[in-house]
Amino acid sequence: MMKNSDKVNICMVGTGYVGLVSGTCLAEIGHRVVCVDSDEKKINLLKKGIMPIYEEGLKALVHKNVKKKKLFFAKSIKEGLHHKGHRAEAVFIAVGTPPRPDGSADLSAIEKVAEEVSINMSDYTVIIEKSTVPVETCHRIEKTMTRFNKKHIPFDVTSNPEFLREGSAVSDFLNPDRVVAGVPSKQAEFLFKKIYKPMMKHSQVIITDVKSAELIKHASNSFLATKISFINAVANVCEKTGANIDDVAKGMGSDKRIGASFLNAGIGFGGFCFPKDLEAFYWLSSQKGYDFKLLKNVQDINEDQKMWIVKKIEDELWNLKGKTVALLGLAFKPNTDDMRFAPSIDIVKALKKLGAKIKAYDPISMSNAKEVIKGIEYTKNPYQCVKNADCVCLITEWDEFKKLDFKKVLTLVKHPILIDGRNLYNAAKMRKMGFTYKSLGRP
Ligand code: UGA
Repeated sequence: MMKNSDKVNICMVGTGYVGLVSGTCLAEIGHRVVCVDSDEKKINLLKKGIMPIYEEGLKALVHKNVKKKKLFFAKSIKEGLHHKGHRAEAVFIAVGTPPRPDGSADLSAIEKVAEEVSINMSDYTVIIEKSTVPVETCHRIEKTMTRFNKKHIPFDVTSNPEFLREGSAVSDFLNPDRVVAGVPSKQAEFLFKKIYKPMMKHSQVIITDVKSAELIKHASNSFLATKISFINAVANVCEKTGANIDDVAKGMGSDKRIGASFLNAGIGFGGFCFPKDLEAFYWLSSQKGYDFKLLKNVQDINEDQKMWIVKKIEDELWNLKGKTVALLGLAFKPNTDDMRFAPSIDIVKALKKLGAKIKAYDPISMSNAKEVIKGIEYTKNPYQCVKNADCVCLITEWDEFKKLDFKKVLTLVKHPILIDGRNLYNAAKMRKMGFTYKSLGRP
């Protein structure tokens, strides 16, 4: 149990993936958290216990902490800062920073929050920037707040990038490899350490200056994306030479300096983080006078990689006009209902252009998919999806697809062609069963 003196009153602005998960987990480790969002509909739903996103374990944790009166929801920053007599000492900013057409991040929501916090704070407050932002954003927040801070109330702006992944967000937040804190003063550092104290036993806390902390986030995501594009490029070379990407990745990954994670070849990365952050990091570097060409190459490889599966389908089926392609999975990765920048969107677009009829099934993301992918047949289960298909493609490596009854699949499909966009299945086993089986960079 946390001592009362260790409890911090927190206002979390923004209830997206990062805000809602972080706010809930901060309540779980003992603090009093008020989550604020300007989207009244979302707050009304959350007050009724309805989650705006699917994330494993989140709903139960929200319900538990609401019941324990550690987690609250409010519609305005003003209310969040002075909630039922509790003044927020720390204000986290976790609002959206969507991409603008030129690739830069739209930071207008952050500016608005800075203004509102400045007008409504009543004593020393630490602003903790958590949204993914370009370096120097905290400096901008500070300037904005100073402009609106007519009563000269002391404050500090700190950077605390978040590294949680969708699909494992709750456990990532509660068990991070590291917590990064970019702080401008000892006072801010003290509060920061107080907030994260329960996690400091098992995770390292890295204290830096504010700009370095901001840069760590963009650099980390861009590096991980580079790792994926690198292994995908190697998989393409494997395919052309007859080598096996599974063995190559294992051989590379067992070198501690390289590491085994993020070396799974596939049809490219998607989601709301890697594509957007790569673009924003490239844009920022250009603005500062450095042409970070590597990031452009990483993006290009990823765009080409999405089309790998389309080329394979064409190789097998020749003309796609009127032929039925069954897609297993649509989300950008398993255990999430997020469809933002999912490779499936571009894959469907390309297949439709070639005249294919598409059937698709995803365990969780179908209602979100229907918003962004129109003109295809959505089915209730994987078996309906593969029925009469000329070709079956695995797009997302959900557990449900690992356990498919392939004997049943064989009786349903028109032709036993299986194209595995995530190297999920054992090639020899699939071929033995009678499938024409294609995967990435595996002979
Ligand atoms: C990513 C980072 O991993 C988080 O640390 C970060 O906090 C988050 O972005 C963010 O900035 O908010 P996320 O986008 O949720 O998290 O998902 P990842 O698990 O990183 O996967 C991203 C994409 O890469 C997926 O499409 C996945 O299929 C693909 N991927 C991942 C591969 O193709 N191969 C791999 O080996 C790993």
